[in-house]
Amino acid sequence: MIRPLLAANWKMNKTRREADQFCDDLLTALSEKQLRHVMIAPQFPLLQNLCERIGSRFPVAAQNCHYESGGAFTAEVSPDLLLEIGIQWVIIGHSERRHLFGESQELVARRLSGALAKGMNVIYCIGEKLDEREEGKTFQVLDAQIAVLSDLGEGLDRTVLAYEPVWAIGTGKVAGTEQIGEVHGYLRSRFPTPPLLYGGSVKPENIDSIASLENVDGALIGGAGLDVKTFSAIVNRALEIKGV
Ligand code: PGA
Repeated sequence: MIRPLLAANWKMNKTRREADQFCDDLLTALSEKQLRHVMIAPQFPLLQNLCERIGSRFPVAAQNCHYESGGAFTAEVSPDLLLEIGIQWVIIGHSERRHLFGESQELVARRLSGALAKGMNVIYCIGEKLDEREEGKTFQVLDAQIAVLSDLGEGLDRTVLAYEPVWAIGTGKVAGTEQIGEVHGYLRSRFPTPPLLYGGSVKPENIDSIASLENVDGALIGGAGLDVKTFSAIVNRALEIKGV
């Protein structure tokens, strides 16, 4: 397992040319040692090209995948095909999948188990919405989302957990270190082995306080991961704090 890990989720951003440029620049901005701790998740059509472009210097991740190898599932992507083109990592359960596209916990759990069963490594995203936090339901929501982890068996060794409070994603509102520390401490007590990432408005300005938290093993980065300068600044600081 990669630990610490700084993963950039590009969401529905970047043209092929922009993605190529980013990767070329990243390979010069970071050392070989630092590159072992980064990951990039581009849109599906860029996966194979980026994977080939960067060689095996860091992993490229898909932003979702189905739990079946193939079949009548229009617009879904097969984990077997991802593996065939060299993609071994996938993000599952991102809050945008859950809340903008209506992926239920049941579906997300099937995707997680399915991807792991095929041999993929997964960044599994969890997190509460603002109303849920305000109603004091944060841990109830997280418990429902992590229940699936108990059934993964050895698959848990290929799972990274990303805590992303929905209200902190793309809003500029980072969760307080106390809030992050509380949730990560709880997750660590329940599942001691998986690396624990924080996600939600991570930037060069706040990475120090986040990476300094004992139970934070890295970050899942959206907006700030679109720019090589800000992404590599985050990587530099986080790795330095974690002693890499
Ligand atoms: P953000 O996105 O860093 O832009 O808040 C994080 C994420 O969605 O993973």
